[in-house]
Amino acid sequence: MFRTVAAAGAAALLATFAGTVSASALTVGFSQIGSESGWRAAETTVTQQQAKDRGVDLKFADAQQKQENQIKAVRGFIAQGVDAILIAPVVATGWDAVLKEAQEADIPVILLDRQIDAPDDLYLTAVTSDQVHEGKVAGDWLVGAVGDQECKVMELQGTTGSSPAINRKKGFEEAIAGHPNITIARSQTGDFTRTKGKEVMESFIKAENGGKDICAVYAHNDDMAVGAIQAMKEAGLKPGSDIKVVSIDAVPDIFLAMENGEANATVELTPNMAGPAFDALEAYLKDGTVPPKWIQTESKLYTASDDPKAVYESKKDLGY
Ligand code: AHR
Repeated sequence: MFRTVAAAGAAALLATFAGTVSASALTVGFSQIGSESGWRAAETTVTQQQAKDRGVDLKFADAQQKQENQIKAVRGFIAQGVDAILIAPVVATGWDAVLKEAQEADIPVILLDRQIDAPDDLYLTAVTSDQVHEGKVAGDWLVGAVGDQECKVMELQGTTGSSPAINRKKGFEEAIAGHPNITIARSQTGDFTRTKGKEVMESFIKAENGGKDICAVYAHNDDMAVGAIQAMKEAGLKPGSDIKVVSIDAVPDIFLAMENGEANATVELTPNMAGPAFDALEAYLKDGTVPPKWIQTESKLYTASDDPKAVYESKKDLGY
């Protein structure tokens, strides 16, 4: 249980909040990672929109991919005495000290989209997908797509030390474990960006006989897949047919690539982490309802048979 409820000061805190503070009076700090991907841009848009719809005063801080900036921002929110703090944690480790400071100040913290390695009494709840499952869904798709064919996979990992990079790798490896014909031949971080995804793919292509030996690309997000697709095209390869492409996020651009036959599958990650987070926060502040430690979002597989043009149209104006 989060300390603000368990500790001696809890009764006083809840007495202050219960029935007297409506969502419209809340001030919430949001430490966002940055803007590395289309998905991240959408999460920022949705969080700001959710706050606006609920009358929450959202203090936004962009950490430019640096944990030290996130820690500074969280300390700033604590000093301002915000009612709650949302953190999308760039990496999984190194959070204990600042979370203890928030706890000491009786400020509930909610994690968005990434998990951390810290005792779970240091935060109220985490709204994330099951990232191991996402990797497994991507791997299961590839297993089904290649059958018994020998398949050398190039893996583009997300930000080193981040929970999605660790877990999506794990899940994919679990999926291909019983299939010795499928091997991850090369694996490197592309930091969740298009630019780095392209650069890393260029080096993979050079190292793999001009790309002729590559069977598939598994990218931990769609932006890196889009960068890799560009690298393949510039090398005269045919992504989506010569080389299969599977990734995670379901951003609009991957559906355009699918429509063009240049990508094969993606696993959807909703950018709406803030909706469930604000619901949990409002209930907690209203009457002390303690949410589950993990609020899990869905992970849906999309392939070229899911009318990619229509999916693109449905997503293109959502802030990606
Ligand atoms: O934590 C979620 C991941 O972060 C998304 O899959 C990726 O695009 C983003 O950078």
